[in-house]
Amino acid sequence: MTLRRRLVLVTVALAVAVSTVIGAGSIIALASIQRSAIDHQLQYATNRAQRSVEQQGPNGPGLDIARPSGQAAGTLTAYFLNGDVVVGSVIDNAGDLGRLSSAVVRPLGTVTVDGRAHTVDLGGDLGRYRVTAAPVGPAVLVVGLPMTPVYESVGKLLVVVLVVTVLALLAASAVAALAVRRSLRPLDRVAETASAVARTPLDRSDVLDGVRVPDTDPRTEVGRVGTAFNRMLGHIGAALQARERSEQQVRQFVADASHELRTPLASVRGYAELTRRMGGDLPQDVVYAMGRIESESIRMTSMVEDLLLLARLDEGREVQFAEVDLTGLVLDAVNDAHAASPAHAIAVDVPDEPVVVPGDAARLHQVVVNLVTNARTHTPEGTRITVGLTPVGAGAGGGVDLTVRDDGQGIDPAFVPKLFERFARADSSRSRSAGSTGLGLAIVDAVVQAHGGSVTVTSEPGDTVFTVHLPAVRPGAGGAADARDAVASAT
Ligand SMILES: Nc1ncnc2c1ncn2[C@@H]1O[C@H](COP(=O)(O)OP(=O)(O)OP(=O)(O)O)[C@@H](O)[C@H]1O
Ligand SMILES: [Mg+2]
Repeated sequence: MTLRRRLVLVTVALAVAVSTVIGAGSIIALASIQRSAIDHQLQYATNRAQRSVEQQGPNGPGLDIARPSGQAAGTLTAYFLNGDVVVGSVIDNAGDLGRLSSAVVRPLGTVTVDGRAHTVDLGGDLGRYRVTAAPVGPAVLVVGLPMTPVYESVGKLLVVVLVVTVLALLAASAVAALAVRRSLRPLDRVAETASAVARTPLDRSDVLDGVRVPDTDPRTEVGRVGTAFNRMLGHIGAALQARERSEQQVRQFVADASHELRTPLASVRGYAELTRRMGGDLPQDVVYAMGRIESESIRMTSMVEDLLLLARLDEGREVQFAEVDLTGLVLDAVNDAHAASPAHAIAVDVPDEPVVVPGDAARLHQVVVNLVTNARTHTPEGTRITVGLTPVGAGAGGGVDLTVRDDGQGIDPAFVPKLFERFARADSSRSRSAGSTGLGLAIVDAVVQAHGGSVTVTSEPGDTVFTVHLPAVRPGAGGAADARDAVASAT
């Protein structure tokens, strides 16, 4: 149940309880006031009847015993002698006298003779009565007044209380719903901001800039929550900035280090080559050692180049967009691969018309070469490799799928999640001796991401497919603006 509904329900329940108590209290009070008023009148009526009986002649009281002057309509009077009724009559609403039936007289005879008022149910037309029984000489005089006025006014009050209570409750619930909605609106804004922040990927330090809760009045509870929330967002932003700074420093260090390593590596390689060329009278093992120095420095140079490229891609540099003919690029790469691995059957599957995407030709060439090289070098001879290009979708959502498929032994499923990490190799000892570093797919991933695309892999023995999706349009700016929009639309 929402907080809003619960608050409204509690308020209405309280209002119901209070109105019930007030209504019931008024009704009980009214009933008791009315009854004591009747008891007072009964006292006077009894006095009048007693006086009238005492003034009777020797024949005793007659039917008009109920009508000494001043008795009201409804007054009943009965005169008992030795437990038997002598006469009993009642004044009806028209003021006429009526004789009491024996069914009415019987309960009157049982009333305690103590001069106090008692309630008796006489049934029939008369209903409930307040009666007193008092001794008059040897006889007992019973006088009664109807309770009907009490019941009538209590009934009327009940109706009034019910109607007023229902109306007041309706009004109270409407007002409560409005007031609760209004006072919870700032909380809604905090919640909306929180969920907008939760949806925002914290990949850049500026994604939370300008994302703040507007309700920060420290006098209100919600304002305090909002202030704390904003402060927390500030801390997160600062932490993101610190993270970005340290990542930047690491990237800078890798870029600088690889850059600085290039020159000495070139010298090592150059001198090794020179020595080999001079050759001639050098001992055989020195020639071998120089050859190893040369080949290892070539390998190290390519590793250093890869590291430098990754560092620059991380910085968001190194990609110059232009129209790139992917078809030509694929054909070149496949021809090179043919020459390098004649034992592999390499096929292309591209549309007749050239497939063109916006991108960096050199980097995309590297993507194709890395994937095809993997399919050649990590599979046994005789493996069939197919490089395909498929235009997918149209307009801004469209693009091109580049697939490199081989029917080699496949990739260990446990290794697949780590495939695109830097220096990740399925079998490091074997691969290292074969001259691989595990940077190839990391570069593929970084280049494709810099193009706003994605790379996926599915692999089972006999069928391994790398799919690179490249969008038909250049990736634009997003991030912070998106989060701000989300918050703005929420509030
Ligand atoms: N087509 C494939 N078939 C089987 N295994 C593969 C395939 N492609 C990649 N792999 C596995 O993934 C690992 C990582 O590939 P990646 O291209 O990143 O590095 P590498 O080829 O080992 O080294 P580098 O490309 O830097 O010279 C490889 O070592 C290999 O074990
Ligand atoms: Mg590779």
